[in-house]
Amino acid sequence: MATVKRLRLKEPFDSIVRVLLTILVILFVIFLFYRYEIHTIKKLGYSEKASNEILFTWKKDFVQETKFSKTLNKAFESNNYNKDYLKKYSLIDYYESDLLISNINTLLKKGYSVLDINLLFSRGNQEEVKEFSKRDRVLYLEEFLEYDFSKLRLYDKYKAYSDDTGEDAYSTIVYVNLGLDNDDYKNPTVVKKFNKNILVNKHFKLDDNFVPDDLVSIDKKYTDGEKLQLNKEAYDAFIEMYSDNDNIYIRTAYRSSKDQLDLCDYYKNLYGQEYVNKYVAKPHFSEHETGLAIDVASKNKNVFVESKEYDWMIKNAYKYGFILRYTDRFEGITGFRSEAWHYRYVGKKISKELHKKNMSYEEYYAVNIYK
Ligand code: DAL
Ligand code: ZN
Repeated sequence: MATVKRLRLKEPFDSIVRVLLTILVILFVIFLFYRYEIHTIKKLGYSEKASNEILFTWKKDFVQETKFSKTLNKAFESNNYNKDYLKKYSLIDYYESDLLISNINTLLKKGYSVLDINLLFSRGNQEEVKEFSKRDRVLYLEEFLEYDFSKLRLYDKYKAYSDDTGEDAYSTIVYVNLGLDNDDYKNPTVVKKFNKNILVNKHFKLDDNFVPDDLVSIDKKYTDGEKLQLNKEAYDAFIEMYSDNDNIYIRTAYRSSKDQLDLCDYYKNLYGQEYVNKYVAKPHFSEHETGLAIDVASKNKNVFVESKEYDWMIKNAYKYGFILRYTDRFEGITGFRSEAWHYRYVGKKISKELHKKNMSYEEYYAVNIYK
């Protein structure tokens, strides 16, 4: 009797345990299935967060049929993705920015194509794209932006300059990148740090705290007895050049801003301001202050342009990394009258290219270096 009683008591308890166990097993199987599904999606490259979004919005088949895209991953991770744009997200280049998906959404809404968006992204950062996306749709983006040295942040300036002057797109971009849409010495780009490719002119100003790198004293045998200084790499290049033509010497090399100011005053008193504007840069605007520029002279003739060394330099200086900076042909872009004696060290790679293309350093800079 006692045994039967005990069994009766146990029965409902057993069935509760059984039900609970079954539920647990089912939950566990569902969990395993869920993890398996997430694992399958993650294996395509998607993050945990994106994979969850993909799974629970029934987009697993879509991502399995689509090439993995970091942009699409970011879209799934973001709260403001639009499910109608999934295919397009997957075709848009990825950029590391929290603005990426909202920028894409705004641009797609405005009617820009995937190609347009990739072009915009390649010409400006996401902050600049955000600014650009606020305006009415621009129909022919390629007009300026097809040039890989164009900058999205300067788009309006390109448009204004080309409307004003009628210049073609290439020249417009070169000129605006160089700040030539401003008056001389107005709103210059400030150059803070030295590097061999530095551009200094009436629109690129050396910072007040600018310090040239590696200034070394020039042996007096390379000057007319004066104590001069030059950047070490430029000096080595000059010595190499001198070993092939020792009729050349250095008349001027590095000048401090104070030297440059004194020079401006000196020439202003002698010939007036007009002369200074054409031939002498204001302090902080002269490449002599970088230690990379030299004024050369001939040991045989006082007037350099009449010397054999002038011709020799024109033919050969580029082989050693030097370029003639100011010529009549380049006056419009350099802002200075021809100076037969003023050479700038840029290194052999660039000097050779400029020689081959007969291109000014300004143009080269606007196309290849300007950021
Ligand atoms: N004469 C050149 C332009 C200078 O002053 O740097
Ligand atoms: Zn000079």
